[in-house]
Formats: sequence, structure tokens, C-alpha cells
Amino acid sequence: MFRYLVLVLAFLPATFAVPTIQAVGSKFFTSNGNQWFIKGIAYQLNEFDPLVDTNQCTTDANLMKTLGTNAIRVYHVDASQNHDGCMKAFSDAGIYLFVDLDTFTTYILGDNPTWNQTQFEKYSAVMDTFAKYDNTAGFFVGNEVITNYTQGASAAYIKAAARDMKAYRTSKGYRQIPVGYSAADIAELRPMLQNYLVCGGNASEAIDFFSLNSYEWCGPVDYMSSGYSNLQAEAAKYPIPIFFSETGCNKPEPRTFADQAAIFGPQMVDTWSGSIIYEWIQEQNDYGLISYGGSVEDPVRSGTPQPVAPDFTNLQAAWSVQPSGVQLSDYTKSAASLSTPACPSSTANGWPINGNPAIPAIGKQFDITGSSLPSATASTTSSGTASPSASGKSAASGGKGIASVTLGLAIAMAGVIVLL
Ligand SMILES: *[C@@H]1O[C@H](CO)[C@@H](O)[C@H](O)[C@H]1NC(C)=O
Ligand SMILES: *[C@@H]1O[C@H](CO)[C@@H](O)[C@H](O)[C@H]1NC(C)=O
Ligand SMILES: *[C@@H]1O[C@H](CO)[C@@H](O)[C@H](O)[C@H]1NC(C)=O
Repeated sequence: MFRYLVLVLAFLPATFAVPTIQAVGSKFFTSNGNQWFIKGIAYQLNEFDPLVDTNQCTTDANLMKTLGTNAIRVYHVDASQNHDGCMKAFSDAGIYLFVDLDTFTTYILGDNPTWNQTQFEKYSAVMDTFAKYDNTAGFFVGNEVITNYTQGASAAYIKAAARDMKAYRTSKGYRQIPVGYSAADIAELRPMLQNYLVCGGNASEAIDFFSLNSYEWCGPVDYMSSGYSNLQAEAAKYPIPIFFSETGCNKPEPRTFADQAAIFGPQMVDTWSGSIIYEWIQEQNDYGLISYGGSVEDPVRSGTPQPVAPDFTNLQAAWSVQPSGVQLSDYTKSAASLSTPACPSSTANGWPINGNPAIPAIGKQFDITGSSLPSATASTTSSGTASPSASGKSAASGGKGIASVTLGLAIAMAGVIVLL
């Protein structure tokens, strides 16, 4: 008994008391059953892991909280370091983490893509390090792997990485922390890339969320003239969560973050799950919300954060809007009726993958001419028994991502039915 107690206590320090985040249908929910919208900030200056200096994290988290921030995005971490202090500091401020699983040496390259054992092991080490924190909201398998439409075929490797990291997550018994991709905004690939990454009717081979780094809303434009109305039209029926993983155009100045009103307002709020503003620390590119002093050419990485005016208070004002979401218990039925899009056909000077050729096994090359698997449009409506509505209760009582597992299962089952 005593030993049991000690064991339980030994596990406590790593799991802080915030509700966990799960993906259900096209939305994120907390384990309390409330819809969760991202008001995030990109938190990384350079190659140094920003989640190891507890004092700095605490100072930054407290200031971010005054902005209305509830998430940070970190691009590269060192899995061998201890992140307990920083993760607790952010958790205490109600701030969640989206972290890239790749490191500086293992990301998937757009021109010469690989997905192999070396990469898998490095990604796994990052997952092992962060899966234990309740405030880990999501993992990226890549950031802007594709920066030019000519690199579109790399998407098969992104999908392979998502497949293997999701399987690894399950094999380790981790909670169903969503695994997604952060895409550059490339007109020629919209919406084919986002549809390809979720198509095929097999939830085990689809990403759990899609996100876009987009700087389309610049200066005094509006919902129509910015291009956001297009983004919305292309995402309206998307079956998994979608959000802006970078936004906040800075030309012309001052930055007003006017797009936040559209994202959290009636035009987009039913489709989009929020946004991550680029970025926390001021540097030469002039996107910073704070500065620790020093010159922008050689920015300091730590110290007392001084808000950049008027950007900081402009963002604070833009984030005063509180989107009204749905309750998980009211949403599970419509989530079950979402269907995955068909795999897109290739287009001239655009999307290169025709249909659904098998994605590469680990360490293997993608055969873009490979025979297409059935490009199933999976509908979850056909599978009443796997309806996620049953899991609403367990989610509300602290269940860990059961709803998304169940929905995934439903999609997989529907896929089987279509294949038969
Ligand atoms: C995996 O690919 C990378 C290049 O992307 C290479 O450096 C590494 O050696 C490869 N590992 C294996 C096991 O093939
Ligand atoms: C994309 O690639 C094409 C072909 O290599 C090249 O001509 C073009 O300049 C590239 N575009 C960008 C934005 O890099
Ligand atoms: C779905 O994908 C997983 C992982 O690639 C595979 O093991 C499974 O057989 C697939 N299911 C179907 C029904 O094709």
C-alpha cells in the first residue's frame, strides 16, 4: 500500500492539473467538454530550446497571460533536457504547448524528402519527453516542409510520419495528443494539400489537425479582400481541426491583428480553431511582441520582457473577443456525420499526387506512380456503434481523448466498409 502510494506520488510532478486537449471532428475540446480555441504565440528565437529556463518561462508565461494567450508554439526542442519547470510555469498560466517533433537535423526536406528510422527515433524522443505533460496540446510532424508547389510530393512523407508517430503514441499508451502538420500558404496547393493529408478513409494514415502559416491579412483589408474568405470556403467542410499556426502580417505597420476578429467571429469561428501569432521575441524580422533589450541584429534571449508598442496592446485588444464555442456533448452527433474528402487528382503546375498511391513505409521511397488505393470518402454515419457520443461523458469526467479515438475508429471502420 505504502509503496503504491509512493509510486503514485512519484508520477505526480510531471502531470499538472489542467484539462487535456483532444480533437473531436473538426474541433478541439478540453477534457471538461468545452470547445477550445487557440490564442497562441510562437515562442522560439533560435536553435536554443526555449523550454529549459524555468525563471524565464515563468516571467514570460505571466506576461503572456495578460495578453489572453492560452498556447505557445515551439519549433525545436532538445529531448534530452528537463522541461518540467517550464511546462509547469506555462500550465500554471493556463497555457498549452504545440511542439514540433522534428529537430534541426531531422526535419523532412521538401526537395529530397526522407522518412526513415533515424528521423522516427528522434521524433519519438521528443514525443516521449512531452507526452507526459497535461498541457501538451499537439505535435507537429513538420513545419513548412513544402515551400514551393514543386515539392508537393513530399506530402506522402509527411503522411507517413504522421502514421508512424500516431502508431507510436498508441503503442506507448500515451493519451491521444493530436498529431498534425503546419503548412506554408501556397496558392497552387490549396486546398489539395490539406485534403490529401486527411483523405483516403483510413484514420491511422491521416493527420489529426491541419494548420496554416498565413500572412494574407496585411494592412487595411477585410475578410473578402484579404483572401480569408477563400481560406474559409476551402476549409468549411474540413473534417479535422484547422487553425493558423502562424499569422500576424507586419507590413504595413502598425500591426492591428484585425484578422483575429474574423477568425473568432461569425465568418470563421465554426470552422477555425484559432491562431498562433508570430512571434514572442523581437528580432530583425520585426515580428516580435516583446524585447528583452539589446539590438534586433543580435537579440537577447532572456531578461525582463518589454512589450513592443503598439503591437502588444493591439493584440491584447484583438484577443478581448471571446469566441462562443459548442459543448462536446452537443457536438458529438454532428462530428460523427463528417466525412473525409476524396484524395485530390493531380493538376498541371500544381498538385502532383494523383489519387491515393500507397504512402511510403519507413525508410522507403514514395512511388508516386504506384497504383492508387481506393480513394475512399469515408463517412462515419454508417457506423452507429462507434459513435463518439458515448464518450462524451467520460471526456467530461477527465477521460483522455477517448472521443477522438472512437471517431478515428469510426472513420477506419467506414474505410473498411468502403473497401469491401
Ligand atoms: C535518414 O535520412 C537522413 C537524411 O534526411 C540521413 O541523414 C540519415 O542517415 C538517414 N537514416 C537512415 C537510417 O537511413
Ligand atoms: C518554385 O520552383 C520553381 C521551379 O523550380 C521556381 O521556378 C520558382 O521560382 C519557385 N518558386 C518559389 C516561390 O520559390
Ligand atoms: C490503415 O492504416 C494502417 C497503417 O498504415 C494499416 O495498418 C491498416 O491496415 C489500414 N487499414 C485499412 C482498413 O486499410
